[in-house]
Amino acid sequence: MIGEWIDIGPTGQISPGNARTLPVQGGEEIAIFHTMDHQFYALVNKCPHKHGPLSQGIVHGTEVTCPLHSWKISLKTGEAQGDDKGCVPTIPIRVDAGRLYLLRSALMAARAPQVAA
Ligand code: FES
Repeated sequence: MIGEWIDIGPTGQISPGNARTLPVQGGEEIAIFHTMDHQFYALVNKCPHKHGPLSQGIVHGTEVTCPLHSWKISLKTGEAQGDDKGCVPTIPIRVDAGRLYLLRSALMAARAPQVAA
């Protein structure tokens, strides 16, 4: 099922503790995170609170702190942590021979949650 996975380039393009964004034609921008312990995660690049750019947040463990109002979002589940409520879609990502792959169907289906006015 190789065609189901989209090659988005080498793992070395994102240094540990950082993120990069990936535009998706007809879909949401995706944020790809590289944690300090060398795991990769992909989420829609919109905080579930007010759509802050999660890719610009601080990565700690398997969470990212949103740069706008400091909500903490799980990179594994996309869920807001603590007392905050909300969830952003995650995209399955895999590493193979030093390259990153995203699941095509999840990429197209991912939609950011509505933001309360
Ligand atoms: S937009 Fe992310 S915490 Fe408010």
